[in-house]
Amino acid sequence: MSIKELKPINLVFYSKWDSYEKWRNVLLKQNIKLFMWPKDFNLNTLYPNINGALVWDPPEDMWQSFPNLKIIQSLGAGVDHILKKPFPKGIHILKLSDPDLSNQMAEYVLMSVLMCHRKFFQYLVHKKKKDWNQLIPLDKKTFTITLLGYGAISKLVIKKLLYMGFNIKAWGKNKRRPKNIKYYYGKDQLKDSIKDSSCLISLLPATSTTNNIIGLAEFKLLNKECYFINVGRGNTVNEKELIYALNDSILTGAILDVFKKEPLHKTSKLWTLNNVYMTPHIAGITNATNYSACLLKKNFEALNQNKKISNIVDNTNGY
Ligand code: GLV
Repeated sequence: MSIKELKPINLVFYSKWDSYEKWRNVLLKQNIKLFMWPKDFNLNTLYPNINGALVWDPPEDMWQSFPNLKIIQSLGAGVDHILKKPFPKGIHILKLSDPDLSNQMAEYVLMSVLMCHRKFFQYLVHKKKKDWNQLIPLDKKTFTITLLGYGAISKLVIKKLLYMGFNIKAWGKNKRRPKNIKYYYGKDQLKDSIKDSSCLISLLPATSTTNNIIGLAEFKLLNKECYFINVGRGNTVNEKELIYALNDSILTGAILDVFKKEPLHKTSKLWTLNNVYMTPHIAGITNATNYSACLLKKNFEALNQNKKISNIVDNTNGY
């Protein structure tokens, strides 16, 4: 494409959590201009020169100012924060897929798995009692892990867990035939994928089909000593049943990074349970990277040339 044909890319930015300055600087290197909503705009005015948006949890009233939006780029791997409110139709919504974010997520999951496998929940109790008692972890081959979700991040996690010697099962929405693990798919096979595992990990997105997909019945299928790790979305778990399972030692422990309502309400029982480690949705923190800025530029170029755009969301699936 010649310089003449390159259309200027002007984006509107909205996020309460991400740094506007960092994104502005990294995008400028790609010749992309970033403007902040609502600070840089007059309300009730149309801005036809804005052709894209870079957002986390955007307010629905911002869209009406931008009649020529072509791409809405999520500031996270998930897009539920965009889809949950009315948004302009006929526009490509893109999830963020960046090795920096995927690696952080994978590291968080590995850390959590190792904490469970090496019995950190039990040692927390021992510490309170000043109890010097050495516990022997199960053989890694016997400590079976079930991963719910089979997207790019899950595949990275699986690769790393296999390398460490764990036994892995995975469950996804669609039929596939991965060579290295036992794979299950569809609602009918969910229970089989969880049965007899020691650790259940959810990397599921928030969609209408994943709502409350995990609850007491699923926890009861796990082995006697068992753990739940949630780094996907809070809506996928029945939180009342999760609390019951933790209270009743149906689950030995849980490591939770996502919740039904965030920030987690101060009255939630989860704050006070001794067998829960919690973090405030930080398993993967989006950084303003050159990788993401280049990919966004490439996607605008692909759009102008009617070529394939990467990381596009299927609005019917919701991810
Ligand atoms: C975080 O939750 C993300 O969607 O990247």
